[in-house]
Order: sequence, then C-alpha cells, then structure tokens
Amino acid sequence: MWLSYVSLSSRSYALQNELFAKPNSPPPRRAGRTREPFGRLDADAALRERLLGYCRLHPGDIWNDPEAGHRVGVLDATKSDQVAEIVGEDRPCLLVNDPPYNVAVGSANTPSLSKQGIGAYMAFSDRWVRNCIDVMGESAHFYVWLGADVHDGFQPLPDFIIMMRDMPGLSPRNLITLRNQRGYGTQKNWMWVRQELLHYVHGSPDFAVTYTDIPKILRGYYKTVNGKRTENLERSRSENIRPGNVWVDVQQAFYRLEENVPGCYAQKPLKAIERLLLTSSKHGDVVLDCFAHSGTTLVAGERLGRRVLTFDVDPLFAELSIRRLENYRKTGRTGWQWHNPFPEMEGACDAAGTAGPHR
Ligand SMILES: C[S@@+](CC[C@H](N)C(=O)[O-])C[C@H]1O[C@@H](n2cnc3c(N)ncnc32)[C@H](O)[C@@H]1O
Repeated sequence: MWLSYVSLSSRSYALQNELFAKPNSPPPRRAGRTREPFGRLDADAALRERLLGYCRLHPGDIWNDPEAGHRVGVLDATKSDQVAEIVGEDRPCLLVNDPPYNVAVGSANTPSLSKQGIGAYMAFSDRWVRNCIDVMGESAHFYVWLGADVHDGFQPLPDFIIMMRDMPGLSPRNLITLRNQRGYGTQKNWMWVRQELLHYVHGSPDFAVTYTDIPKILRGYYKTVNGKRTENLERSRSENIRPGNVWVDVQQAFYRLEENVPGCYAQKPLKAIERLLLTSSKHGDVVLDCFAHSGTTLVAGERLGRRVLTFDVDPLFAELSIRRLENYRKTGRTGWQWHNPFPEMEGACDAAGTAGPHR
C-alpha cells in the first residue's frame, strides 16, 4: 500500500529517529572501512530505482524456497486475496507482525514507513489484522510490535489496543516491553527506551518457557517444601531469570552487529524474534509475518526449523529478505554488518562488499 506523504516537525523526526530507527546508522566514516554502503532504501528515490533492477520479484509475485519451503512475496497485507494466496493451505500457528508504527522514522516520511492520520492508520490496521485472523490456525499466537508517539497523544498504541477488543477470536495474553539499549531523552524528561509488543491468542496454543542468560541474583523468597525451609534459588528450574514481559537483554540491530542489514531502518533484533519462535511455536510449524522488511522472521525460522511465510509491499525489502536467507545459508552470517547486500551494484558500495572479512 503506497501511502501519501505528510510532513512532520523536525523535532518529531528527531524523536522518532531515536525511538525506532537503528542507532548510528549510517555511521560516520571511520578508518574508511566501517561505513554502511547506503542510507535508508525506502527514502532514496534514485538509489531505489537502481536497486529495483536487481530485485527478482515484482508486485504480486511469490518466491517459493526450494530448500525449506519458506515463501517470500511482494504483497499488500491489507489485501485479503494476497494474504490468502501466500498462506495457501497452511494455517500458521504463530503470527509475528511488525507493521509501520505510524511515525515518520528518522528524517523521512516514506511510502513504506509513513505517518498518516490516525483514522487512516486504524483502517489499515483493521484490514491487515482481519486478514491474518482469516488465515491463522485454530490455536495460534498473534504478536504485534507497536509504538506510541508522545508528540501525538501516544498514538497509535492505545487506539490499536482498543481496536483489538472487537477482533473476533483473539484474546489478550500479554503486553511485553523491550528495553532498548540506547534511547532518547533530555535532562527534563525520562529517557525513552521502550518498544511495545502486544500478545494475543486464538484458541489455546502451547507455550514453552525459556530463560535469559541473566543469572538470578535475588534471594529470599522463602517457602517450606516437604517440611524443609527453602529459598527461591533452590526451588527454581534454572539459575537464570525468565524474560518475563520486560525484556532487558536484547541488543538493538546496528551497523557493527553481524545481523545488521544496511538500508533497513526498522530491523528487529533476531534475538527477540527467535524468542517468540522458541516460546510460541514448535519445530516444523508455520509462521506468518506480513511485514518482512529485512527478513528477520525468515532468518529466525531458518535457524530454528520453522517454515516462514512472509512478504513486504516493497520489492526491495522482499529481495533483501531472500538475499539475507541465501547469505545465511552460504556464509552462516545473519546479516551483512556494514557491507553491501547488493555487491553487484557497481560504484556505489564499500569496496569491502560482502567479499570482505565481516569482523
Ligand atoms: C517496521 S518494518 C518491519 C521490520 C521487520 N520486523 C524486520 O525485522 O526487519 C515494516 C515493513 O512493512 C512494510 N509495509 C508497509 N505497508 C505494508 C503493507 N500494506 N503490506 C505489507 N508490507 C507493508 C514496509 O515496507 C516495511 O518494510
């Protein structure tokens, strides 16, 4: 869906850049080696035009992965026939969706990551959520990443939550907050470090408990078990804490991490998406992600043995998702760090390209 451009104040741009975009991307050139080959792919019309020539899919196309059965499309989440087409006979038991948050990310309001009136945004949300409900399994987890714009009445998070009350068959299960490592703040306000993840369920899907790498350090929850006074560490199943619904152990994607995909400004951390797959699906299950972007869910599914059906309205992001999967299979790397995912593009890339050492 190509949306109209709306201008925002530069203050709001800066805020959203800090809240939702990758930190320090693209970075200043240092020692001539660690610079991403280009800025945002959705915001540079000339670059987009060049790169579209390297994209194997056109709007409406679906790529069927011959190796693991994943599918990647250039489709519109608001179109019921397109969502039904990529899902086919499958019934996903896990849906991980990270739609545009209705903020102008960084300093550009672009068609794929845009700001529109809340009425139009909610109509968009209503359509894609209903399309997901139509294709999901009888028992399924449904996750949605969303934000709240402090300069615009905290929209769209509360509006979306209220909308979800009327969605047939979906019940609220949790509200998770991911704490970003790097945030935005002034001396006169709390630093904004949060991203919200809404969790709903359809039917009664299974859930598997996982643990973080963070050791338990608090003791003292005493309880008598079989006549013996025990403290919490003796009783627990792991020496590490569970993630709970406030995740403090997830690093944001940025250009120095292997998983970084240059040109993608809204990439979710692989660790967060893998946590959803591990807790809320099993080996061999089908996962649907209607907003592919950098292909994080696709790579997570490949690594964890889930079959991922995913698409993006923008052919560039569908291409990047497929390339990220192929690159992972070829090199074992989850992204390109600051190197160019389009090495065939002459003259516009870092000479190191993907052929260079990644660390
Ligand atoms: C926030 S990003 C998703 C980030 C993704 N989770 C990742 O880790 O890379 C949202 C994506 O949704 C895409 N998009 C916007 N409108 C869409 C629509 N109607 N249907 C499908 N994709 C859409 C944008 O092009 C953008 O790439």
